[in-house]
Amino acid sequence: MYEILTKKRLNPTVTQMEIHAPLVAKKAKAGQFIILRVDENGERIPLTVAGTDAVRGAVKIIFQIVGATTHKLNCKKAGDTISDFVGPLGEPTHLDGLKKVCIVGGGVGCAIAMPVAQELHRRGAEVTSIIGFRNKDLVILEEEFRSCSDRLTVMTDDGSYGEHGNVTAPLKAMLDAGEHFDCIITIGPLIMMKFVTLTAKPFGVPVTVSMNPIMIDGTGMCGGCRVTLTQDGKRITKFACVDGPDFNGYEIDFDEAMSRGRMYAAFEHSAHERACNLFREVD
Ligand SMILES: Cc1cc2nc3c(=O)[nH]c(=O)nc-3n(C[C@H](O)[C@H](O)[C@H](O)COP(=O)(O)OP(=O)(O)OC[C@H]3O[C@@H](n4cnc5c(N)ncnc54)[C@H](O)[C@@H]3O)c2cc1C
Ligand code: FES
Repeated sequence: MYEILTKKRLNPTVTQMEIHAPLVAKKAKAGQFIILRVDENGERIPLTVAGTDAVRGAVKIIFQIVGATTHKLNCKKAGDTISDFVGPLGEPTHLDGLKKVCIVGGGVGCAIAMPVAQELHRRGAEVTSIIGFRNKDLVILEEEFRSCSDRLTVMTDDGSYGEHGNVTAPLKAMLDAGEHFDCIITIGPLIMMKFVTLTAKPFGVPVTVSMNPIMIDGTGMCGGCRVTLTQDGKRITKFACVDGPDFNGYEIDFDEAMSRGRMYAAFEHSAHERACNLFREVD
């Protein structure tokens, strides 16, 4: 069993927890994830390692309450336990040699982007961060990004905070002005990552995207997390759990990934309805 050390609400639908998992805390690198089960009968869900404290054996996770399992997890409080917490899984984000990087995060994707920005900053790279949210109430991790970024732009779709518009606008303005980046690393909704990639393409800047498909075993055995890439004119299949979650944005078939992501929508909706009836949220 794994103890929940701390719990903090970041916004009405996003919660941060620290879980006591000393072995994961010792090994995890930026970009890797864990798979947890809340209880013995629960489904396995992947969440990114948002930070570690090896001294306390603590692993930080930040999750959006979107369905049955994240709802059930959010009903737990500090001092409670969860039954499984496996990791670190996946390849760490490749950061070697990067000196000037633009991080583009959207919504809860900012939780996944944050440890990458922090690690780049720790290595002495120049970090430009652009983070976007639907509105002011959903803004998370602004201070964390500010402290690891040389430049930070906060965007909201409705203009209720920061600048008005989506994340591609300031990115395009910087590229148009002749700004050079060794790489753009973007993490968020598929549609956002697709448009960040399209924005960067005319400027020839490499783009890394973080794919979050449905995952089951997380070890490359079930095929649930497959994504299609085009390399040298050939379509190939990769597994996000072992080959990713990071991929070259120019190679990814975003449209297929979006249609696969919607496959279980009806089932997930009814599981969420059942969970909402069974559990009461605990702060
Ligand atoms: C490598 C990876 C890292 C992730 N990191 C984070 C993170 O740090 N914070 C965060 O909020 N979310 C993260 N996610 C997404 C998170 O796993 C899903 O939100 C979660 O599984 C939803 O489960 P649910 O039962 O609450 O919702 P459901 O109602 O079951 O599903 C809601 C949506 O979540 C996605 N989802 C559901 N089950 C899975 C699954 N087993 N694997 C992947 N996606 C699923 C689907 O897109 C689905 O439409 C990550 C996903 C992956 C693959
Ligand atoms: S989750 Fe099963 S192959 Fe990746």
